[in-house]
Amino acid sequence: MHRLDRMVIEVSDAYSRRAAEYIEHFGSMSAVHPSDRQLVSTWASGIEGSVIDAGCGPGQWTNFLAELGLPARGTDLVSEFIERARGTYPEVPFTIGSFNTLDAVDGSVGGVLSWYSLIHHEPDTIRVPLLEFNRALRSDGTLLIGFFEGPVVEKFAHAVAPAYRWSVDDLSGQLIAAGFDVVESHVRKASGQRSQAAIVARCKDAR
Ligand SMILES: C[S@@+](CC[C@H](N)C(=O)[O-])C[C@H]1O[C@@H](n2cnc3c(N)ncnc32)[C@H](O)[C@@H]1O
Repeated sequence: MHRLDRMVIEVSDAYSRRAAEYIEHFGSMSAVHPSDRQLVSTWASGIEGSVIDAGCGPGQWTNFLAELGLPARGTDLVSEFIERARGTYPEVPFTIGSFNTLDAVDGSVGGVLSWYSLIHHEPDTIRVPLLEFNRALRSDGTLLIGFFEGPVVEKFAHAVAPAYRWSVDDLSGQLIAAGFDVVESHVRKASGQRSQAAIVARCKDAR
């Protein structure tokens, strides 16, 4: 089996086992930092067309985007998350699947949100979903990634499954190689907590 497929199964199994715990601690907008809410809201205000919440977990961000008036849909590997999302937000469409192969026509999507959903990808496989997001996005489409930040690309013991922190420069390099221009980045460091970051990237004009 390909390493990326194995990793998808391992991540899916790990979140399935801890889905109830994850939902309790992180499964609602009340668990979200106000600056993240503002960041996503500002990004969303510039989107034309539909949005995919790639790795949506229990769907709180998908619903947030839908409440902002965007045609939003969420996708995730974990059936427990999708069942919860469908039950909590019955008006919002959710599908079970891997964002390494999105169910979207080329150039059809206005925005992709990947909020801490790329953290488990190994550095040599992260290009796969980035290329896939780029394929699905319109030429004026944008991607917003939330991730754990550090001075170098480094594996760490995330509570659910092994994860990677990335420097803004290293992840920007991956984005550029996958056909994006980096528009802006934000880093938030709080003592005693993991440093967190976000990057907004736009599809390169010529593609
Ligand atoms: C840290 S959680 C973040 C969930 C959600 N975005 C949030 O902010 O609460 C990471 C999520 O990414 C999902 N995920 C990881 N790899 C994925 C893949 N290849 N396709 C779809 N979902 C994936 C996991 O199942 C999990 O729900």
